[in-house]
Amino acid sequence: MVEDATREQKVHGVQMSIIIPTYMEAETLSKLVERVEKTLVETDFEIIIVDDNSPDGTADIAEGLGMKFGNIRVIRRPGKLGLGSAVMDGLKLARSQLIAVMDADLQHPPEVLKHMLEELGKGCDVVIASRYVKGGGAQGLSVWRRFISKGATVLAHVSLPKTSRVSDPLSGYFALNKKVIHGIKLNPIGYKILLEILVKGKYGRVCEIPYNLQHRAGGRSKLGLREILLYLKHLYSLTKEASEHRRLINFVLVGLAGILVNETILWFLTEHLYLHYVFSASISAEVSVLSNFALNEVFTFRDLVADSSLRSVFRRVFEYNWTRIVGICIELFTLHVLTIFAGLHYLLANLVGIALSLAWGYSTSISIVWKS
Ligand code: GDD
Ligand code: MN
Repeated sequence: MVEDATREQKVHGVQMSIIIPTYMEAETLSKLVERVEKTLVETDFEIIIVDDNSPDGTADIAEGLGMKFGNIRVIRRPGKLGLGSAVMDGLKLARSQLIAVMDADLQHPPEVLKHMLEELGKGCDVVIASRYVKGGGAQGLSVWRRFISKGATVLAHVSLPKTSRVSDPLSGYFALNKKVIHGIKLNPIGYKILLEILVKGKYGRVCEIPYNLQHRAGGRSKLGLREILLYLKHLYSLTKEASEHRRLINFVLVGLAGILVNETILWFLTEHLYLHYVFSASISAEVSVLSNFALNEVFTFRDLVADSSLRSVFRRVFEYNWTRIVGICIELFTLHVLTIFAGLHYLLANLVGIALSLAWGYSTSISIVWKS
């Protein structure tokens, strides 16, 4: 299977094109290329190094490596134009149908490339080297970077549920079949080109293989505050493009409908069935949770329902219930803390509580209840 697929690729050129964006990586590039050449010695591949006029002479080193190995091309760009656009320029030049993208600083162990090629050969459209599947890790990141990275991943999962099937949508180490992006307009904003591909690309199977993100072998990371802000901007534009804001609006509308259901039942049970209003309220609260669940299942998250067997619906009802209870606790806790300790007016404090509980409800709906 692997052989058939790779033989087919060979007709069009090399078996795999490896794109390596570089900015100031003179220290590590040679070591990286040597390890790639060693790993893929039985493969007919090419390397495309996209350098942004690094002042440390990375491009000259790259050209030297090209003379030595013969399967390396170098794109020299006039200045630091960003990682995303470097990858895109590399894609334009790639001769193979199968493409891999990796960093130049040896944080991505080149030995994983072989595994990636095998997975592409088995029919995976996108292969992601993941820090977050069993066997993977991020030992090369500081605790602080790990925290930021995890937070950014959760944010991606929640704002773009299409990516929630993938454990590491922000990985910089991945491979794909070029058909995934055929005819698709990619936006080179920021660092996270894989995210762009996962949202806009046309693919069936996404495969993840574990890897351990290593320490930088030299040089310095270029991921600073600017990149983090760009990431948020990128996420916002992808969310808009994927019409995800409609989902949030639906969720809020369902919540408002829930208030109506709650009040109506409370009124009916108290006024017509003569129940004590606290008893009526506990019934009406639960009924409104259930009606909200039903509306969300049918409208808001319909596309995320993977399994509609009764068992699975019951699981979701259960999870929706407990996440709601936690949501109410968050609301009351915020109200209490902001009024007592921060001296806020209780109506204002309650608004903050509602906002926090809404954020909690929406994110747990995607990441727990309707997790596909
Ligand atoms: N051509 C070019 N232009 N290359 C760049 C630029 C640029 O403006 N900025 C960074 N690069 C290159 C670096 O030289 C390196 O090879 C690679 O892109 C990654 O840059 P790093 O600065 O090492 O990024 P990082 O290690 O902090 O982040 C990496 O890991 C993250 C996961 O934690 C990246 O792969 C991210 O995409 C990934 O999310
Ligand atoms: Mn790095």
